[in-house]
Amino acid sequence: MTHKLPLGRRTFLLSLAALSGMGAFAIADKLRYTNRSWGATDDPEKDFSGIGDASLRDRAAAKGLIYGAAFPHAALSSDSAFAAAFAQECAILVPESVLKWKALRPEPNRFDFAASDLMAEFAHNHGLLFRGHTLVWHRALPQWFEPTVNSRNAEKLLVDHIATVARRYAGKMHSWDVVNEAVHPKDGRSDGLRNSPWLQLLGPDYIDIAFRAAAEADPQALLVYNDYGLDYDTREEEARRTAVLKLLERLKSKGTPIHALGIQAHLLHSDKPFFNPAKLSSFLREVASLNLRILITEMDVTDKKLAVDVTLRDRLVATAYEDYLSVVLQEPAVIAVLTWGLSDRYTWLSQDRPRADKTPVRPLPLDAQLRRKLAWNAIARAFDQAPMR
Ligand code: XIL
Repeated sequence: MTHKLPLGRRTFLLSLAALSGMGAFAIADKLRYTNRSWGATDDPEKDFSGIGDASLRDRAAAKGLIYGAAFPHAALSSDSAFAAAFAQECAILVPESVLKWKALRPEPNRFDFAASDLMAEFAHNHGLLFRGHTLVWHRALPQWFEPTVNSRNAEKLLVDHIATVARRYAGKMHSWDVVNEAVHPKDGRSDGLRNSPWLQLLGPDYIDIAFRAAAEADPQALLVYNDYGLDYDTREEEARRTAVLKLLERLKSKGTPIHALGIQAHLLHSDKPFFNPAKLSSFLREVASLNLRILITEMDVTDKKLAVDVTLRDRLVATAYEDYLSVVLQEPAVIAVLTWGLSDRYTWLSQDRPRADKTPVRPLPLDAQLRRKLAWNAIARAFDQAPMR
């Protein structure tokens, strides 16, 4: 394969990275841009075959882990083949969008639970755990939000929202992403928090307020702080990890009822040179040492920049899944893995990270015909090789 980078060169770069700190980023950047295929290194010796038929759900369960995926609303009433594949492979369902403010709150004084209730019913009927995403986010806010909400009414609105939504599913939720994506060091605050509408309205305490309201409304659910950009050894993601740890430490020291960190893990195969297992493991250890569990909540691997050849592309995507999961599953605090979708038939990446050549994207375990791909094999093998929980 022309894409193979000699192992020696990779090891050399990683050792340089370890030795020279920031300088290594410059070297990696240079290699990346002088040889654009560097990030798309294929290892022809990787063998994804011989996996057997057992579902991801059963393989994860055999290790005390939970596997599941985001369920797209579009598929619920119209796609029985997809629904059957979902029920076969998954043990937990998270609605992809119908529990967001925009979906639940058509008007300031009206909630619409029609779609989320159907998801809860589907989960219940198929013996799946149900997971909530998300009670507080700076995106997916309804149009009425900005003109209606101010610093006088914001706290009541937030607490009422959480009380109403979390109470509706109380006792039925495995876990809630109480707050999503509150960290954004690029906004320049010393605490690394995002300058979101919630922060502007209520100050940094909005996070604590949200967790307390969620704990009161649903004392049984695992309460999760969820965020992205925590995966790679880049300056930006290092800053994000540091800010997330700072936030988690602050919440724990205040006695905030938070139980877990959700790591979205939207991976980019072309960022592979920046994948540093030791750094990722030590971040997970630090989170675990705060007495928090960890969930991988939205995993997918974008193939936006990969070769058009589907066989090669699928191998690279599968490699990214396996490399990442084989590291994170070593950490006993990791209790669940969810992908952001199950089949390439429904993935947000077709809109958010389309390919320049317009060919369909292939980031998920099943293809658009619901057939298992190499990414499925890679996840299956990572579960098979994971230590028992
Ligand atoms: C995405 C959905 O998948 C899209 O359908 C929607 O248009 C936008 O939101 N991080 C998150 C998720 O926490 O809520 C996002 O979901 C994907 C990124």
